[in-house]
Amino acid sequence: MTLNSYAKLNVFLEVLKKREDGFHELETIMLRTQFCDKMHFRARADQLTLQISELSRPASLANFPLDESNLILKAAEALRAHAHTNLGAEITIQKRIPAEAGLAGGSSNAATTLLALNELWQLKLPTEELHSIAATLGSDINFFVEDCRAAVCRGRGELVEPVAVSGSFYFVALRPATGNSTPAVFSQLTLPTVLASSCDVLKALETGDVRQLDETAFNRLTVPASEVNSEMKCLMSDIAAMTGRRVHMSGSGSTCFLIAKSERDAEVLVTLVGSSGYEVIGLLRV
Ligand code: C5P
Repeated sequence: MTLNSYAKLNVFLEVLKKREDGFHELETIMLRTQFCDKMHFRARADQLTLQISELSRPASLANFPLDESNLILKAAEALRAHAHTNLGAEITIQKRIPAEAGLAGGSSNAATTLLALNELWQLKLPTEELHSIAATLGSDINFFVEDCRAAVCRGRGELVEPVAVSGSFYFVALRPATGNSTPAVFSQLTLPTVLASSCDVLKALETGDVRQLDETAFNRLTVPASEVNSEMKCLMSDIAAMTGRRVHMSGSGSTCFLIAKSERDAEVLVTLVGSSGYEVIGLLRV
């Protein structure tokens, strides 16, 4: 079985409060892009193994753990425990989504593993049960279990409510050489006294209004992430000066993105920022 494991972008992220369990209560709007890793699953008698394909992006091959610390194997083990089974699988991943990038590559891989092995092992677990396993593994996994184009995610991110999207949106994503540690970014955050509203972003998605999305996209973590990663702060000002466009950040960074007016505009922007010296992740379509 071969499945795509998609990257997400956040076009809205507000932090409502800090919770007693140390996590932050969020309201975020996530978009599932077409940019993806490819995952291959082969049933095995009882062994669970993970390997990375040589077709992966070279940058992804470094620091990609293949042991039980990888969220893919954690998801497979959690599914086995939940379903009281000892079935195995040989999992191979062709990695393109960079790590520590705010694109939820690891979370997406974990969700794809839950969905794939539920089928491959013929467990027939309903989606709600996959959601409950996903929530024990991380905050962004439930969005991908839901398998929708866009959603408002609340709680620590695990409560997913799909929302409407019209037309297509094109984003140009790029990042500095270094990633951001999510806990480090949250630790730099000063909690807001006045909360941003997601209303206009939801309206822009629903009506397919690219300009409104560009004007209203918001991420409360941009300031703390810029304090944690000065290279990312430079990227944001360099790319804004180079293109004359707003530069947005996804998740806790360090991926930043431009919202293109059309597919053609996105292609022009990809070429333009190609000479910036920063890594161009590519044209991401939603
Ligand atoms: O759940 P996930 O593994 O994505 O979270 C990584 C870290 O990011 C958490 O350990 C926590 O420090 C921080 N985090 C948070 N509030 C959230 C999500 C993540 O403080 N809603």
